[in-house]
Amino acid sequence: MYEKEMVMNGYNVIANDYYTHRDLNKFNGELENFSNLIPEGGRVLDVGCGAGIPTARYLVKKGLKVTGIDISEKMLQMARKNVPEADFFKKDMMLLDFDDNKFDGIISVYALFHVPKQEQFKIFQNFYRILKPAGILLINTGISESEGVSSFFGVPMFWSNNKPEKTLESIKKSGFSIIFDGVLQRGGEFQYWIIAKK
Ligand SMILES: C[S@@+](CC[C@H](N)C(=O)[O-])C[C@H]1O[C@@H](n2cnc3c(N)ncnc32)[C@H](O)[C@@H]1O
Repeated sequence: MYEKEMVMNGYNVIANDYYTHRDLNKFNGELENFSNLIPEGGRVLDVGCGAGIPTARYLVKKGLKVTGIDISEKMLQMARKNVPEADFFKKDMMLLDFDDNKFDGIISVYALFHVPKQEQFKIFQNFYRILKPAGILLINTGISESEGVSSFFGVPMFWSNNKPEKTLESIKKSGFSIIFDGVLQRGGEFQYWIIAKK
């Protein structure tokens, strides 16, 4: 049922609408906590970076070197305009081919729920590989096991989530130690958040 093209084409169509309706300050606290754990001037990967705001812009302002990846060319075009100081590449988070031990931090917010839940363990293992020792990971996902397609800003969109216990187990099995995990309500929406360390 997963079709990458549905997600990619969907975001190409809704990019403007999505950002017009976004509360850009709703997870400033988590961005602050994450950036405080990264060494000064460190290198951060933003996975499913969207239009670069708020995440890439926030991290650049903190003096970090930011690389963003996304599968939607439209989102990447917006990101390059919004955050010219960062580097943005079209890449699928399921196929990240960066070198081992490259990043001081990886952040993936409001994006993992667009890949099949069975793939998430492999994605976390790859995040572990490309993080430097003691590198920091911040992710969020949905709060219950679910999978399906629903209408999102007028286009069909694929969603998939494991339950938090399973996500936590996958993160631990990938080798991470947990700094924080919990369900948080941000902008009226509940997500399961994890901060972990390699
Ligand atoms: C809800 S938006 C969130 C964007 C950004 N993280 C934010 O918080 O503003 C989800 C993003 O994930 C991207 N995405 C979905 N599947 C992806 C994949 N397999 N690889 C990379 N990016 C993906 C979409 O193109 C979209 O830009």
